[in-house]
Amino acid sequence: METEILTNTQIQAAANYLAQGKLVAFPTETVYGLGADATRPDVVKDVYAAKGRPSDNPLIVHVSGPDMVWEYADNDYKTLATKLMDEFWPGPLTIIMPIQPGKLSKAVTGGLTTAAFRMPNNEVTLNLIKIFGKPIVGPSANTSGKPSPTLAKHVYHDLHGKISAILDDGPTKLGVESTVIDLSVDIPTILRPGMIDSEDLLKVIDNVNSDHHKVTATEVPKAPGMKYKHYAPSAQVIIVDDVNDFGRAISEYAAKDVPMGIMATDEVLQNVPTDIETFSLGKDVLSASRELFAGLRQLDNDHVKYILAQGFSDEGHGAAYSNRLNKSAGNAHYKN
Ligand code: TXA
Ligand code: MG
Repeated sequence: METEILTNTQIQAAANYLAQGKLVAFPTETVYGLGADATRPDVVKDVYAAKGRPSDNPLIVHVSGPDMVWEYADNDYKTLATKLMDEFWPGPLTIIMPIQPGKLSKAVTGGLTTAAFRMPNNEVTLNLIKIFGKPIVGPSANTSGKPSPTLAKHVYHDLHGKISAILDDGPTKLGVESTVIDLSVDIPTILRPGMIDSEDLLKVIDNVNSDHHKVTATEVPKAPGMKYKHYAPSAQVIIVDDVNDFGRAISEYAAKDVPMGIMATDEVLQNVPTDIETFSLGKDVLSASRELFAGLRQLDNDHVKYILAQGFSDEGHGAAYSNRLNKSAGNAHYKN
C-alpha cells in the first residue's frame, strides 16, 4: 500500500479514506494519532495490527465536541465531566468515563466498561471529525514501544506501507501526549501525566489523585498502556539530573569509545565538545517536552549507543517530560 501524504487542506480526502474503513494519521496539539472509524471493530483491529500494539491496551476516542461524547458515555457523568470539558477542551486532557453498555466495541475499550474521550486542539483534525461525522480512535501513530511522532515524517518512518494517508499539519505544539484522568473512580485519578497538571485540574474539581507509578508485569494496571515499555530508542538513555554533572558524564561515556549523543538545552550544549552528536532541547522544560521524542529519534538515526539526556524537575509541567524521559531511559540516571 502506498501511504499518501495529504496537506492540511485535503481534509475531505482524509475523511473519504476513513469512510472507506482505511487508516489515516492525523495531527493533534500533542502528537500525531493513528485514526480509524471508532464505530467499526473490524477497522479498529487494523490499528492494532499497524502499530503492533497489544490488543488489551484500549484506545482514545477522539471527538469534535462534548455532544459526540454523550452518545457513548454514561450521562450520569455529565456534570463532573462538563466542568473539565468547559475548562480544558479542546485541549490535551483525555477523560475516562463508564460507557453506555454496548455502545463501543471491545476493540476500542479493550473489554473495559469505560472509555477514554478527547477533543484535540487542532483545527484540521476537528474539521476532519466533523466532516466524517463520527468519532475516530487514535493511539499515537508510532510503532508500539517507539517514541511518539511529533512530525509527519516520524509517522511515515514507522507506518508507511501500513496506512493509507498522513494528514500533515507540521510539528505538534506540545510534543507529549495528553493528560489522562479517570473519572470512573471515587476520586478522579491522573493515570498519565501531561501538560495539564493536577494544579490545573484542581481549579475546577475538588480532588485529584495521581496514579502514574511504574506498573509491574503482574499487576493489573489502571491504564493498560502503563505496563508496556515505551518511548524507547535503540540507544541506552541516561538521564543527567544535575546540569553540573554533564562535563563529568560526557568524559566517562566518551571513554567507552562508542558513539554517544547529548540531548540538552542550548546553555548546556555550549560546553559540549564539537565531535559529539547533539540535539537541542531549546531553553526550558516546555521546549524540551516539544522536542524530546524528535531528539530520541534523531539520535537513533545517528546510531549512537548512549544518549545523555537532561533531566528537569518533575513538578507541574515538568511531570510529563520526566515521565516520558524516565520510560525511555528505563529509569537510568547518571550517578557521579
Ligand atoms: O495525546 C494523546 O493522548 C495522543 C493523541 C493522538 O491524542 N494519543 C495517545 O494515545 O497517546 P495512546 O493510545 O498512545 O495512549 C492512550 C492511553 C493508553 O495508556 C491507554 O492504556 C489509556 O490511554 N486508556 C485508554 N482507554 C482507557 C480506559 N478505558 N481505561 C484506562 N486507560 C485507558
Ligand atoms: Mg502511545
